[in-house]
Amino acid sequence: MYRLTDAQKARVKELLSQMTLEEKIGQMNQESVSIVGGFDVPFEELIEMMTDGRISQEEFEKIMSTAQQDYHEDDIRAGLVGSLMVQDPRKANELQKIAVEESRLGIPLMFGLDVIHGYRTVYPIAIAEAGTFDPDLFTRTARMAAKESRTQGVNWHFAPMLDVARDARWGRVSEGPGEDPYLVSQFAKAKIKGLQGDRTSPENYVAACLKHYVAYGACEAGRDYNTVSMAPSMLHNAYLPPFKAAVEAGAATAMASFNDLNGVPCTVNPYTLRHILKETWNFPGFVVSDANAIRECVNHGIAATEPDAGTHAANAGMDVDMGTQIYKKHLRAAVERGEVPLSVIDEAAERILSVKMWLGLFDHPYVPEEAMSRYEVLPEEHRALAREAAEKSIVLLKNEGNVLPLKKSQKISLVGQLAASREEIIGAWAMSWRESDCVSIKEGLERAGAQLQYYPCCGPETDINEEEVAAACQYGDVIVAVVGETDAMSGEAASRADITLPGHQRELLERLLASGKPVVACLMNGRPLALQWESQHVPAILECWHLGVEMGPAVANVLLGEKNPEGRLASSFPAVTGMCPIYYNHMNTGRPGGRSKFTSRYLDAGFEALYPFGHGLSYTTFAYDRLRVEEQPDALQITVDVTNTGTREGVETVQLYMQDVTASIVRPVKELRDFAKVSLSPGETKPITLTLQKSDMGYYNDAGEYVLEPGLFRLHVGGNSRDCLTTEVNITF
Ligand code: GLC
Repeated sequence: MYRLTDAQKARVKELLSQMTLEEKIGQMNQESVSIVGGFDVPFEELIEMMTDGRISQEEFEKIMSTAQQDYHEDDIRAGLVGSLMVQDPRKANELQKIAVEESRLGIPLMFGLDVIHGYRTVYPIAIAEAGTFDPDLFTRTARMAAKESRTQGVNWHFAPMLDVARDARWGRVSEGPGEDPYLVSQFAKAKIKGLQGDRTSPENYVAACLKHYVAYGACEAGRDYNTVSMAPSMLHNAYLPPFKAAVEAGAATAMASFNDLNGVPCTVNPYTLRHILKETWNFPGFVVSDANAIRECVNHGIAATEPDAGTHAANAGMDVDMGTQIYKKHLRAAVERGEVPLSVIDEAAERILSVKMWLGLFDHPYVPEEAMSRYEVLPEEHRALAREAAEKSIVLLKNEGNVLPLKKSQKISLVGQLAASREEIIGAWAMSWRESDCVSIKEGLERAGAQLQYYPCCGPETDINEEEVAAACQYGDVIVAVVGETDAMSGEAASRADITLPGHQRELLERLLASGKPVVACLMNGRPLALQWESQHVPAILECWHLGVEMGPAVANVLLGEKNPEGRLASSFPAVTGMCPIYYNHMNTGRPGGRSKFTSRYLDAGFEALYPFGHGLSYTTFAYDRLRVEEQPDALQITVDVTNTGTREGVETVQLYMQDVTASIVRPVKELRDFAKVSLSPGETKPITLTLQKSDMGYYNDAGEYVLEPGLFRLHVGGNSRDCLTTEVNITF
């Protein structure tokens, strides 16, 4: 929990009283390491020139080889920099030494980085990890990342990313915990605890950063950076809750999102930044803009000039400018012209100094020399945790004829370029991983002693090698095809208008199926894919996502039955792209989707997700019985008997959904409100009790007021959001 002691508060106040206006604004300035020299155009222009082909990749790299990196040492010495992004502990200490020992007041720097799903020990991307429905795991992986990154000088993670996302065309679906506000909120609380919770040593915790605040995942048409418009009630009920949960969990910082929201970019939005975050929720930390976002307010058309954008941002409650230098260059003049009150600068500087104080940077500004190499070789316990997270993230989507698990006696034709890749298993937004740490699926199967021959055949961006396909169809008793996306096909600036398997991978599956042998599709992807054809033709489909350094052993353990898959979907899969956005907690409409033509459905795709939120099969089966409800003064206790009706031990994720059947505004047909994982032996039955706090049965209206309305509620319990036992209760509150 981010909170200062009275002594720390006093130190901050004392420091603030000594600071000049320049030095206060310096704290609000986050520098990016600039690439300078070697070329006479701005670095951004150089990138554009390479992107649009005016210079080749080789020419770009040659130019870059002559460039130096400007770490803004002189500005640090003058107290004009508050934070930077670095990944090198010695460079961090060098810059920190300038700040602490050569600047007038010796205020230490913060060093931030995008540590979204691991630092050196990369674990599953968030869309995968969220599907474990395991808050304790969320916390443990975050704590590991905090400890690893602190040894490298990073004391601030631009994480967790908490954007509810319902349109899989958006590439950043991969970075977030899915479509459901409740699951994303549990993810938020657990991650904040993991990143910030272990204060036993400055080496064990970092400042978290709830992002991207807010509703970035609702960018129109799933196109990144696109406009966002929604009813205030939708904003409050679906997109704000995870951020509120993160603030309540004590997050130290927040990052505003690129998008405009109902006409006002979140970078300069006083309603979201001041009214909601800082005043209503009493958020005590500071807000940083996203990269270059203050400058982009001119593109948005909300500011005529960069100084104007800076004034808008500061007055709206934006405390730190990431990477534009607009605050550094223009904020002082804005204060002197009376456009920005001095109180705005004082508040921002105090918020920033307070986080630095809480991080212990005034007393421990440097990375200890002995810590720097602590994780040079990944500790086995870190690998084991990454493997546990990977195994638990794998979702068995389909298993017709129990093709899976494979038997060790079976000869396997392993197919697909992704199967042998160490790079592609990492996923988007991993900054500090090493190829030598990674274990590919092929290596994982070989280490597990599988009888396999490997045939690349085809990748997401290559043609099919017919000879290799023929050989693959010849050798194996079973064919395992690893297909999906490269990690560059998801993440930031990676929206796709067609989310079927890229390239010729579906044709590859057709060729393999023509062999008449059983085919298992192992998906490596960063978003839900449109798998209508695959679901109709491929007998077994395993969703393996991008699982990080231990992907190989984890996939091998599940394929070979060492581990029974327990992952669930945190995001719905559409049958075809055109169904996006698609999510389980939708409104009923006046004509709920059904068989009749005149209902809310598509002529060519129906209305239901191919695989719904919460879906995931097991190598065993489960049955639900005897749903009963006990009403208590403040909560409902909902109990159901769950039985393992199969032949092997398995873990079931029991999910509780509620529906407010009649309310003053339309409400979703289902809303997740609790879940529990239970391990059951074959034939074993356990009563599972889930809790629904009555205070969680309300909703926000368009005025942003939380209302509890008496009436009929339906309670649904099951192993996914579609197949549930249902009962009704009348609640008076
Ligand atoms: C990027 C991302 C944000 C990240 C920031 C710093 O553009 O939007 O998630 O934290 O820049 O790298």
